[in-house]
Amino acid sequence: MATNPAERRESLVSVFREAQSCTKCSLSDSRTQVVFGSGNADADLLFVGEAPGAEEDRLGVPFVGRSGNLLTTMLAEVGIAREDVFIANTLKCRPPDNRDPLPSEIETCRPWLAEQIRLIEPRVVATLGNFATKLLREDPAGITKVHGVPVERRLGDRTVTLFPLFHPAAALRSTSVADLMRRDIAALARLLDRPEDPGVVE
Ligand code: URA
Repeated sequence: MATNPAERRESLVSVFREAQSCTKCSLSDSRTQVVFGSGNADADLLFVGEAPGAEEDRLGVPFVGRSGNLLTTMLAEVGIAREDVFIANTLKCRPPDNRDPLPSEIETCRPWLAEQIRLIEPRVVATLGNFATKLLREDPAGITKVHGVPVERRLGDRTVTLFPLFHPAAALRSTSVADLMRRDIAALARLLDRPEDPGVVE
């Protein structure tokens, strides 16, 4: 794996370029562009959301709409700067009319996320909402049950701490979900400050 941040970034940029022309599923017919992900290639913390929305599809950057603004604000509240983390999605292309990702699309897109995790080598992966959480925990348990509970998981050839969070779109719809999400993000910040925390192995 990359030995320094510049090499890591370079490797990630070459995967980004490759992903731009992906036609592995039919979302390539309706997308404006592939939304690969953005942020610090050397980040300890990787966020994985669901799929780009209209604004993300237009700008080519994840979490730039209302959900993204809320996420950025909640992170800033606990001293986490957006520039210091990497943000990606389960699907790299926008589903038409923002419908839910299909299981076949998630499976087809999965290697791009696996490659991002392999290159970035994050210590903690925070999943936003049900789709990313179920995919990476490899468990059907929903976000309402597992939010805020760190677990260790083998992703590729590395063990990372998974930290499930509510999706910010759910927090925009409900103040009680927003409160829970704030509380979980505070716990996430504490976890990042404790490098030796082993989390819970299931
Ligand atoms: N919701 C997501 O899950 N991802 C984005 O990039 C934007 C909104």
